[in-house]
Amino acid sequence: IRRITVPQIMARKGGAPIVSLTSYHAHTAAIVDAHADFILVGDSLGMVMHGMETTVGVSLDLMMMHGRAVVRGTRRALVVVDMPFGTYEESPQVAFRNAAEIMKETGCGAVKLEGGARMAETIRFLVERGIPVMAHIGLTPQSSHVMGGFKTQGHDAETWGAHKADAAAVAEAGAFALVLEGMVEPLAAEITQEIAIPTIGIGASVHCDGQILVLEDMLGLNPTPPKFVKVYGDLLGQIEGAVGRYAEDVRNRAFPTEDQVYKPRG
Ligand code: KIV
Ligand code: NA
Repeated sequence: IRRITVPQIMARKGGAPIVSLTSYHAHTAAIVDAHADFILVGDSLGMVMHGMETTVGVSLDLMMMHGRAVVRGTRRALVVVDMPFGTYEESPQVAFRNAAEIMKETGCGAVKLEGGARMAETIRFLVERGIPVMAHIGLTPQSSHVMGGFKTQGHDAETWGAHKADAAAVAEAGAFALVLEGMVEPLAAEITQEIAIPTIGIGASVHCDGQILVLEDMLGLNPTPPKFVKVYGDLLGQIEGAVGRYAEDVRNRAFPTEDQVYKPRG
């Protein structure tokens, strides 16, 4: 394996922070590849790329299509592909069949799934059979219909025990890392202290062992990013400006110019 490996990610526990971003297609993945330790092909692609209201409608085929593109576009970072809603919850056997298909069809190095203690048996089943699993707790978007929306977690200290038990269960089951999403800072800090695998935060404070953001959010392509996003770019403004200038050029016959036309040879 020439890429960054799962054991290399695990070895970063408590050390140099793990850098990660999402990517859904080859071109952006190639840019991220130079900087990230792992790239997540997140099921957020259903919302970001396909205009869905939640991630619940994302299919295995859609994940594999984007997963293939990201693997093709990269050579250095570990690529992790999300298991979409409905492809792993039913049983460890169903989860294995679908995770194996994702790995064979995309060439990715690991899968991610949502859920804590309730998914521990499945995580163990997959890892024992050769599939590295990243777990994901806290705000779990695939459960948004049960939660009544995208709800940040841990505001009530009485819930901390359950979140900590989830984190301990997935670590004990063999997950190689754990995404903590949308969780109050002190809870994320305590979970990170308590478990032996790296935590990857998104809206979970600087105390995690690494950070991940949705690429389009941090690039400034999302007009209404969540509070936890630090916006590093202005893609929305740049694309709006460029498209506007192009439209104006076409209407004024200012594009194409001599530079962009083919003249007969000879
Ligand atoms: O789908 C996704 O992009 C994710 C990250 C936000 C962790 O699961
Ligand atoms: Na996801």
